[in-house]
Amino acid sequence: TSDYLIAPSILSADFARLGDEVDDVLASGADIVHFDVMDNHYVPNLTIGPMVCEALRKHGVTAPIDAHLMVKPVDRLIGDFIDAGASYVTFHPEATEHIDRSLQLIRDGGCRSGLVFNPATPLHFLDHVMDKVDMILLMSVNPGFGGQSFIPGTLDKLREVRRRIDASGRAIRLEVDGGIKPDNIAEVARAGADTFVAGSAVFKGRSTQDPHRYESVMREF
Ligand code: DX5
Ligand code: ZN
Repeated sequence: TSDYLIAPSILSADFARLGDEVDDVLASGADIVHFDVMDNHYVPNLTIGPMVCEALRKHGVTAPIDAHLMVKPVDRLIGDFIDAGASYVTFHPEATEHIDRSLQLIRDGGCRSGLVFNPATPLHFLDHVMDKVDMILLMSVNPGFGGQSFIPGTLDKLREVRRRIDASGRAIRLEVDGGIKPDNIAEVARAGADTFVAGSAVFKGRSTQDPHRYESVMREF
């Protein structure tokens, strides 16, 4: 149904031709662009920042951009991503000194806000901010790299967050990130997720000679 969103992670795209990759995957049915920001400090990898987000907007990308900040500290980059045209900005609660303030910065900038939970990060960080989040992102791998395997314990955690969202009565998106493939997405959806990040499953192993390379995989999702 249209209530489910597929968010390809451009971490696994061909960075040398990123604009075309994003255009192609959106034309093949992707709903939002998952944009992984890593700082070699909060996570052991280094990726892309607000300049690349802005470049995608200038290239003509109009779909929502979902900026997943794996950075510490987070607050200054929040402003940069707002200016760069991000739609969602999410961050990890243990990476900021003041969770409420960081969420408010995102909302004040006109973006949708979200908290991200690593596999072992407890959900109590949600207790006092349910009215300040538009998205909750559960990591189903430890953050830092694409191509890792889905951690099964995420399913119970998804069910728990789904209960909390339903009890709140608010339209909060429940996103899952890491190891999502066509063969596990149904089970993940049944556990309560409605927004699915997929990196390697979408972008890896496809020939750039094939102009329709993302259409069949997007149909599988
Ligand atoms: C991991 C990133 C993910 C990653 C997912 O730290 O947050 O978005 O790109 O890649 P796959 O789908 O290959 O697990
Ligand atoms: Zn991510």
